[in-house]
Amino acid sequence: MNLIDGKAISAAIRAELKEKVAGMEKRPGLAVILVGDDPASAVYVRNKKKACEEVGIYSEVYTLPAETSQSDLNGLIDALNDNPAINGILVQLPLPKHLNEREVTLRISPEKDVDAFHPYNVGLITEGHPRFLPCTPAGIMELIRRSGIDPAGKRAVVIGRSNIVGKPMALLLLAANATVTVCHSKTADLPAVTREADILVSAVGKAGFVTADMVKEGAVVIDVGMNRDADGKLCGDVDFPSVAPKSSFITPVPGGVGPMTITMLLSNTIKAKDAMYFLDRESTKEA
Ligand code: GUN
Repeated sequence: MNLIDGKAISAAIRAELKEKVAGMEKRPGLAVILVGDDPASAVYVRNKKKACEEVGIYSEVYTLPAETSQSDLNGLIDALNDNPAINGILVQLPLPKHLNEREVTLRISPEKDVDAFHPYNVGLITEGHPRFLPCTPAGIMELIRRSGIDPAGKRAVVIGRSNIVGKPMALLLLAANATVTVCHSKTADLPAVTREADILVSAVGKAGFVTADMVKEGAVVIDVGMNRDADGKLCGDVDFPSVAPKSSFITPVPGGVGPMTITMLLSNTIKAKDAMYFLDRESTKEA
């Protein structure tokens, strides 16, 4: 069994990104919007700001009260869409119930959509011509590649079909030439399907969901879960003590997928800046 060290891989990529930013004429800028006072979201947003500082990306954090109206939120997004110092915009999800997440997703300019949630960017990914890659699935692909694993020809099984993880994960594995199955709460005989997996990705959100009987000997096991166990300790979906000995590679929680998500956000923000620089030069050429 090999442990995939997400912290170490993430640190290596951040060092590469820091060098890239240092060589840019102007720093990329990221705006993060947090509505309400969900404590987990507040931690994620703080970590994003810290990560930006670490690689030299300019960042602005907007902390709005829970009762913020849709039109005020839309107004802030419009202003950030028009702000040339901002290359990436991220609205931390979930939003308070009275706000419409889909409206927010559609409002963010596709050029600044560093989450890759806008239908335009989802369409590009589906086509196989992505501009931004969704952060968590992209981070997982990096973990797989940098561990020397080639998904081509392998059976990949994804448990979970969310727009943030499961669905885009399936698309990226497909683009890497894996044979992909997506499972969900209505899947019949889930263990029979997951036992076929050479690469098993679990994005369920239930502690202890993936047990040893669901895993093929020698499988690569990727755990996207971020759960709390009975003692309040952070844990994934995978029953690590029983699954790890059967797997060829496995990600721990914490220290596996988690650190990669923000790293990919940084990468997308730099990519957004690069793209605008290119567009600026194109428009200058024409002028
Ligand atoms: N909440 C949990 N994951 C994410 C994410 O990847 N992006 C945003 N915007 N919100 C999230």
